[in-house]
Amino acid sequence: MEKVFVFDHPLIQHKISLLRDKNTSTKEFRELVSEISMLMGYEVTRSMPLKEVEIETPVAVAKTKVISGKKLGIVPILRAGLGMVDGMLNLVPMAKVGHIGLYRDPETLEPVEYYCKLPVDAAEREIVVLDPMLATGGSASAAIQFIKDRGVTSIKLMCLIAAKVGIARINRDHPDVEIYCAAVDEQLNDHGYIVPGLGDAGDRLFGTK
Ligand code: PRP
Ligand code: URA
Repeated sequence: MEKVFVFDHPLIQHKISLLRDKNTSTKEFRELVSEISMLMGYEVTRSMPLKEVEIETPVAVAKTKVISGKKLGIVPILRAGLGMVDGMLNLVPMAKVGHIGLYRDPETLEPVEYYCKLPVDAAEREIVVLDPMLATGGSASAAIQFIKDRGVTSIKLMCLIAAKVGIARINRDHPDVEIYCAAVDEQLNDHGYIVPGLGDAGDRLFGTK
């Protein structure tokens, strides 16, 4: 049984349907990825700890709450994860952004690393890894391992569409990492694409095909 949080909010589900449509333009696709990321980010950040403070209103002193505890870092997996950054930054503008460059070798489907730059204080942050697609899970698993190797202990994975096999892979390799997604698809095709999925997320975001 896979361990995953699936967002069933009607707005998210509606936008995921538009995203899957092969007739959705690059411009619309980019906007939708950003909008869905913001809606999902709202829930993903729900567990951020609060502390009580006193604030002087024009009328009296209010006992009220502000975010405390670990600060947030977001780490998109290049390329397609870049499309999710703006949505998250709209919610948490002070979050630091790291980048991990990985591509899947088309023959072996194994992830190949070409870039990794994380915030210097990553180990003190709660890190949310962003990638629209979780297919075999190889890319996300490798990215999470890079982040753990830098001493980070609090990691979440936020994707848009996840294949069951990818979820199982992350659950197995990184049982401490919570996965958030908007849809779970049953299978992969012979090229490792999620079926029905939405195609190649990077190409659809950047118009490269
Ligand atoms: C896609 C996607 C994930 C990966 C998922 O990236 O954005 O990073 O594939 O597949 P996996 O779960 O089987 O590893 P891709 O390799 O196409 O690179 P791109 O974003 O540069 O197009
Ligand atoms: N990467 C994508 O962009 N799409 C898939 O369906 C699988 C991996």
